Amino acid sequence: MAILVTGGAGFIGSHTCIELLNSGYDLVVVDNLSNSSMASIKKVEEITAKKVPFYNVDLLDKDSLGSVFLHHDFESVIHFAGVKAVGESTQNPLKYYQNNVMGTLNLCEVMQNHKVLKMVFSSSATVYSPSASGIMTEENLLGASNPYGRTKLMIEELLKDLSASNNNWSISILRYFNPIGAHSSGQIGEDPKGTPNNLLPYIAQVASGKLPIVRVYGIDYDTIDGTGVRDYVHVVDLAKGHIKALDKVKTSNGVSIYNLGTGKGYSVLEMIRAFERVADRKIPYKIEARRDGDVAICYADPSKAMLELGWVAVRDIEEMCEDAWRWQKNYPEGYTMSEMMNKF
Ligand code: WQD
Repeated sequence: MAILVTGGAGFIGSHTCIELLNSGYDLVVVDNLSNSSMASIKKVEEITAKKVPFYNVDLLDKDSLGSVFLHHDFESVIHFAGVKAVGESTQNPLKYYQNNVMGTLNLCEVMQNHKVLKMVFSSSATVYSPSASGIMTEENLLGASNPYGRTKLMIEELLKDLSASNNNWSISILRYFNPIGAHSSGQIGEDPKGTPNNLLPYIAQVASGKLPIVRVYGIDYDTIDGTGVRDYVHVVDLAKGHIKALDKVKTSNGVSIYNLGTGKGYSVLEMIRAFERVADRKIPYKIEARRDGDVAICYADPSKAMLELGWVAVRDIEEMCEDAWRWQKNYPEGYTMSEMMNKF
């Protein structure tokens, strides 16, 4: 039996495919390649020396998705597919409700029709209401502040309703904090199309000369140095968390929810300094106004995942920056991997 990975060509999806293959799983990937490219699937095959059956399928195309289930015998689904830019979601909410919520509804219907009732779902720390301390346990108050986060919250609720309606469903919801870094080979990594929204790929592109200067969004927060503090977690640690969650859904029914973070927070300026050490160069930055929707501090209490999944993030901030920098250096200024593959 195989694992279906939706969105498996994406940043976290492709890294999880490597861990799945290295753990002996067979897998199938569906992805509409709207924010990724076949290049990452090819790299996963090179790194693992294993084949990855791939279908260019959009979850909004329920018939095509159903035919994938006719050709494979799935034991579980790891569901990454979705759009995830907070800023874009405020400009184009329909795109987010369509892709994330409608896409998941289609997936759950097809899974139910084929009696595939085990899912690991890619959720996000954006489902949490801001808290004074910034430390998030799974019991924290929920309340997303943007359409992207609200789609993740809606999906979590529909998965809970699904499980309540039929206790044969077994679902693990993983709330990611800030995934960064890259596979140690430097062959796959975060490959955002256009100008990166997130801090780390932006810093990496300034370090490589592709972008001129890092814009620091606010230095008047009540934090160690006034800049925003986040829980950055290595994408490979995150990927390994999915293997642990897969074991969980194999052996228990109902819905389980876990924070996947390190439990440590780093400020924007601390991240810039860490990257300067790793890239051995100054990284220019300028202080700008706060970004709408940002909170001062957000980091995980990851103890539940440690206790129940036996999962701990082991890679530190230096390794995250080293792996991100190795990946960034692999592509000449001006091209990311997907641009390279399309150009040459
Ligand atoms: C981190 C810090 C910014 C860019 C987002 C999504 C979340 C998840 C991870 C999907 C903040 C500051 C950023 C820049 C900056 N994605 N910053 N200059 O906003 O914590 O989380 O990505 O699940 O859903 O919300 O990540 O990297 O955008 O910001 O100063 O150019 O860096 O203000 O303090 P964020 P981020």
